[in-house]
Amino acid sequence: MKLSVIGTGYLGATHAAAMASLGFDVIGVDVDPKKIELLKVGKVPFFEPDLEELLIAEVNSGRLKFTTDFSEARDCDVHFICVGTPQMQGSLAADMKYVDAALDAIAPHAKTSSLIVGKSTVPVGTA
Ligand SMILES: NC(=O)c1ccc[n+]([C@@H]2O[C@H](COP(=O)([O-])OP(=O)(O)OC[C@H]3O[C@@H](n4cnc5c(N)ncnc54)[C@H](O)[C@@H]3O)[C@@H](O)[C@H]2O)c1
Repeated sequence: MKLSVIGTGYLGATHAAAMASLGFDVIGVDVDPKKIELLKVGKVPFFEPDLEELLIAEVNSGRLKFTTDFSEARDCDVHFICVGTPQMQGSLAADMKYVDAALDAIAPHAKTSSLIVGKSTVPVGTA
């Protein structure tokens, strides 16, 4: 089974490496090219204990890949949305613009049988 993880920050990079370690083929997709270049060579651009070792092992196994190109996730059976949902300035609401952008970006490429899973923290009713 092939999985994509859209948004490879703290949540997404960790989830991607963990799912690859369970034997799934995983592609991490992010809009930040610098982050993707680091992850591709097994470097974690933030502090998360033991993640770098896991990431290096899974990248070297060939099960874990990273890209900025959403079309490379077209064959995936499950897409995990892991982008940020920061608090909106001047409001208590969550800013959903990154979730909306991620869905707009994957929708043209996702096969009709694929499942889209929200992992970002979102308000009740978002799904
Ligand atoms: N960090 C945690 O431990 C944790 C735990 C539970 C839930 N969450 C939730 O997970 C979500 C992500 O949190 P985080 O801490 O990983 O955030 P983060 O800021 O570290 O990562 C978000 C990533 O999404 C990427 N991104 C933004 N727009 C994108 C788009 N359109 N397409 C693809 N990638 C895009 C950013 O470049 C960034 O790399 C939030 O909703 C947060 O509340 C986080």
